[in-house]
Amino acid sequence: MPAPTTDVEPTAPTPDAPTEPAVLLELEQVSKTFPVKIGMRKRSVSAVDGVDLLVREGSTVGIVGESGCGKSTLARLIVGLVPHDDGTIRFAGQALGSKGRRPRSVVEQMQMVFQDPYSALNPKATIGESIAFPLRVQGVPTAEIQERVGTVLTDVGLHPNYATHYPHQLSGGQRQRVNIARALALHPRLVVLDEAVSALDKSIQAQILNLLDDLQEAYGLTYVFISHDLNVVEWSSDEVAVMYLGRVVETCPAEDLYRRPLHPYTQGLLASIPKLDPRERAADAGRIDGEMPSPLDPPSGCRFRTRCPSAHERCAQEAPVLAEVEPGHRVACHLHTGADVPVEAPSLRSTPTPPTTTEGA
Ligand SMILES: Nc1ncnc2c1ncn2[C@@H]1O[C@H](COP(=O)(O)OP(=O)(O)OP(=O)(O)O)[C@@H](O)[C@H]1O
Ligand code: SF4
Ligand SMILES: [Mg+2]
Repeated sequence: MPAPTTDVEPTAPTPDAPTEPAVLLELEQVSKTFPVKIGMRKRSVSAVDGVDLLVREGSTVGIVGESGCGKSTLARLIVGLVPHDDGTIRFAGQALGSKGRRPRSVVEQMQMVFQDPYSALNPKATIGESIAFPLRVQGVPTAEIQERVGTVLTDVGLHPNYATHYPHQLSGGQRQRVNIARALALHPRLVVLDEAVSALDKSIQAQILNLLDDLQEAYGLTYVFISHDLNVVEWSSDEVAVMYLGRVVETCPAEDLYRRPLHPYTQGLLASIPKLDPRERAADAGRIDGEMPSPLDPPSGCRFRTRCPSAHERCAQEAPVLAEVEPGHRVACHLHTGADVPVEAPSLRSTPTPPTTTEGA
């Protein structure tokens, strides 16, 4: 029997819609409290409280917030240096328990770079020994260790001869390059950088940021980039999460955050950046005043309410949840997520200010 014919033209294949990179790290309602003793009383510090975070493969997520808001604790929870009390941490689709050791494969895939490039290195060990140490612990064969040490030193812009030097023979920028090399030696997928450029001069900062950018592409890395410096985070991050007193209060693409911050705390943080241009100083009116309350005794409801110029009755009674108010833009504030009157978000910045670069590190 002949095949039935049809008048319908075959449809052209539709081009695939661009797909988002896979989620590498996901935090769901992650919390951490530390027990402390004040005088004879036992108290607890709520360092991280119900944090949600999504980090896509190959991207950089910046974490910003004032000193003591929980950035480093969050970093330590992610890499497993301290166990989380509640919530779920998922890495490459695998839920990581808060008890017991993490599987070696996961430990190797997450590395951390700390703020102080000097204290992170053993002063009595050569640079080569410092980089080789974690490789030895992971059972990498000796011949391969030597090769990897040379490769990562070259990749971070240092001659392989630096392997025989000691930390005190290097500048601050060079030492931070070594710390980055040590993190890379294990071929991680995720690198958590906790104030990794904060101790460096501005010009060296810019070089290390450029280096991190290059390495991200060359190694296919994903970064969680923690800093109290909003300029640095703006320059380096795709997405930004703003923390206040242990909670994430706003998260969105970096461009949105700096052009159109929605949370009163973010608006205040951006208004607090010192401005050289007198025409931009008018925005200083929105600066945040006062100190962050103690995490020993956080305010009820919205934790920012004691410093918020828009606080109202509901803010003391009910903690706002982090909710998507625009595509990809999530905010925890009753002004944006409830029946309360939304505030007009000021446009605080017109153009990002890239960090400057001049001399060699
Ligand atoms: N091991 C600990 N024991 C008790 N309290 C702790 C411990 N670690 C952190 N904290 C407290 O948890 C809160 C968050 O600290 P954390 O170091 O995470 O903040 P941070 O945002 O990294 O601050 P900074 O910008 O100064 O580095 C602080 O009040 C801190 O004192
Ligand atoms: S919930 Fe209330 S106190 Fe908190 S940021 Fe919004 S307006 Fe301010
Ligand atoms: Mg810290």
